[in-house]
Amino acid sequence: MSALLSLNSVETYIGGSRILRGVDLEVRTGEVVALMGRNGVGKTTTLRAITGVLPVRSGAITFGGQRIDALPPDARARAGIGYVPQGRDIFPHLTVEENLHVGLVVHGRRGAAARAALDRVYTLFPVLKEMLSRKGGVLSGGQQQQLAIGRALLTDPKLLILDEPTEGIQPSIIEQIGDTLKKLKDEGLGHNYSQEVQNAVKGLKAEGKLAILLVEQFVDFCRDCADRFYAMDRGAVVVSGPIAALTDEVVKEHLQV
Ligand SMILES: Nc1ncnc2c1ncn2[C@@H]1O[C@H](COP(=O)(O)OP(=O)(O)OP(=O)(O)O)[C@@H](O)[C@H]1O
Ligand SMILES: [Mg+2]
Repeated sequence: MSALLSLNSVETYIGGSRILRGVDLEVRTGEVVALMGRNGVGKTTTLRAITGVLPVRSGAITFGGQRIDALPPDARARAGIGYVPQGRDIFPHLTVEENLHVGLVVHGRRGAAARAALDRVYTLFPVLKEMLSRKGGVLSGGQQQQLAIGRALLTDPKLLILDEPTEGIQPSIIEQIGDTLKKLKDEGLGHNYSQEVQNAVKGLKAEGKLAILLVEQFVDFCRDCADRFYAMDRGAVVVSGPIAALTDEVVKEHLQV
C-alpha cells in the first residue's frame, strides 16, 4: 500500500541552525505511528514541517500522492491534515460547544452531517457532552486535551497529528519542575487523562479510515496503541520499525533520560 504521508530527506532550519537533518518517515491510512525521542530532538519540529508552520529547506513531503511542502498551512489542513499542537491550543474564553463549532465551521459542515460528526466526538469523549456550556479555560488539562482532539476531528482529517496527547500539564510548568511532574504523570496523574485519549485512539483505529501520527514519550501508551514507531535523535530518525521492535534496549538507548 502506498503511503498517505511521506517525508523524504526533510531538512529545516530555525534561525540559521539546522534542526532537522534529513528526516525520512511514512504513515499509511489506518495506521497509528508513534514518533518518539528525548526532549529537544526535533519531534515537534517534524510535525511543524508537515503542517506547514515551518518551511522545509530541502527534501520532499507528499500527502495523498501530492507534493505539499510548498503549500501554506491552511491548504494542508484542507487537504486533510488535522493538527493538535503540543500544549493543546483551545479557545479558553469560548464554551466547549463553541470550541467544537470552530472545527465544524472550518470544515463547512452543517445540519445532519454536523450532528453526526459531533456524535462521533461525544462517543469518543463523553466528558465533552457533559460540559458543553463550560468555558474551555476552566476544563482540566486532560479535558482540554480531549476538546482539542475532538475539535480537530470535526475538520474530518485523513491524518490526525497529535503532539504529546498524554501530557496533561502545561509544558512550561513541566519544564520548571521537570522530573517531579514526570514522576507524578507516571504514577497516575497523566495516566487518568491518557486512558481516555488512549481509548479514543483505539476507537479511531478500529474505524480504520484515519491515520494517526502521534508524538509521545509515554512508552506504554505507544506499545498499546501504535502499529509502528520512529525514534529521533538530534534531528534525524535513528531507529524505526513495527512497535514490537520497540524493545527495552531501544528505549534505554534512545528514549530514556
Ligand atoms: N523557535 C525556535 N528557535 C530556536 N530553536 C528552536 C526553536 N524551536 C525549536 N528549537 C530547537 O530545535 C530543537 C528541536 O526542538 P523540538 O521542539 O522539535 O523538540 P521536541 O523533540 O519536540 O522536544 P520536546 O520533547 O521537548 O517537545 C531543539 O534543540 C530546540 O531548542
Ligand atoms: Mg515537542
